Amino acid sequence: MKRSTMRNAGYDGPMSLLIDVVIAAAGSGRRLAHDRPKAFVELGGQPMLARSLEAAAAIGARRTVVTVPADDPDAWAGEVRAMAAGRPVVAVPGGPSRQASVFEGLKALRRLAAEAAQPAPATVLVHDAARPAASLDLWRRVAAAADAAGAAVPALPSVDSLKRVDGAGSIVASVDRATIVRAQTPQGFRFDWLLEAHEAAAGGPEASDDAALLERLGRRVTTVAGEAANLKVTTADDLAALARASLLPAAAIRVGYGYDIHPLVVGRRLVLGGVEIEHDRGLMGHSDADSLAHAIADALLGAAGLGDIGKWFPAEDPRWAGADSLDLLAKVVEQLAAAGYRPVNVDATILAERPRLAPHLETMGERLAKAMGIDAGAVNVKATRGEGIGGIGRGEGIAAHAVAMVARG
Ligand code: CTP
Ligand code: MG
Repeated sequence: MKRSTMRNAGYDGPMSLLIDVVIAAAGSGRRLAHDRPKAFVELGGQPMLARSLEAAAAIGARRTVVTVPADDPDAWAGEVRAMAAGRPVVAVPGGPSRQASVFEGLKALRRLAAEAAQPAPATVLVHDAARPAASLDLWRRVAAAADAAGAAVPALPSVDSLKRVDGAGSIVASVDRATIVRAQTPQGFRFDWLLEAHEAAAGGPEASDDAALLERLGRRVTTVAGEAANLKVTTADDLAALARASLLPAAAIRVGYGYDIHPLVVGRRLVLGGVEIEHDRGLMGHSDADSLAHAIADALLGAAGLGDIGKWFPAEDPRWAGADSLDLLAKVVEQLAAAGYRPVNVDATILAERPRLAPHLETMGERLAKAMGIDAGAVNVKATRGEGIGGIGRGEGIAAHAVAMVARG
């Protein structure tokens, strides 16, 4: 198996923290003035809210509660269920303000945990569906900081000069921007702290975010670096800007490519596509050196934007010594699922001078398909000789190329 230097910045696999999520999506979007509530308006081919649901799933949230518009909660809950595609997402009617909606969401999380005889939520992330472009990295950093500090908020420095103005728009004073940051969501809190803050705030003045309620109780709220791309959609212009910026991987279907090569040596088994093949040599590598399975794993990871197998199964990690590459392939599919993707089909070509592989190709396809949890018909394996050209042609090794298509959900 080859080593990898490639990384997706900040992506460290599923989190081990116990996280529950509230997504505020109950607003009507008065300023957006669309015929659907803002969270249900499409951006990049799917409702804005779907992006936040995918992020919550990808960070391994135990349960996600979505507040939906109270005018027709059953209809909106139906749309949420369709977006959630079987993931543990529950819709509850929101309140008359964002604050009231989040409070409803928190109470629902507490109730659902109790009904399932599970421990109360530990850390809760609260996110506005109106911020569909928050990266997974941001979700993870907020979760980690909230777990460590009890309360954490993404914040951006103020780069513009700040002025206080009067009712007529004339400047009254300049404000020191060094002490001002702009707070975003997702915001993360110890669940008991946030619930207490909402209980204390009920009936009082409305706050525009949750951190404000903790401040009122004198709790310390830490900040993590926010993201300029994490725009909040308020007006139609914001929606257009976000669509133009292509911040969203819009495609519901993506493709990936993978390549792998291992040397042929005496005294090793030859395993390709999970099939052991009679030969006087085998492929050398840390695992079973199944270059076909590795190329396919890389194609799948590439399609989902998850790096490559070297990142998930480092060659220096003793756990993968002699590993069955079909097991690695199954684990790759689990990682895909955690990121919201499933394999659709795979096409691969093995480059081998010898032995003759044609009699084994169908079995390889079947085994690979089984490991990926897809139909055998969705996996096509071909083989070609090197025609005496180069290292492959001289029989020094066996390589494989693969392309894979993955789909959301
Ligand atoms: N929100 C909510 N319940 C409300 C009001 C707002 O859950 N009663 C949610 C919105 O759906 C949004 C987030 O809180 O995701 C931030 O609110 P905002 O951007 O103000 O959205 P709207 O209130 O829908 O928009 P507007 O103020 O223009 O009507
Ligand atoms: Mg509002």
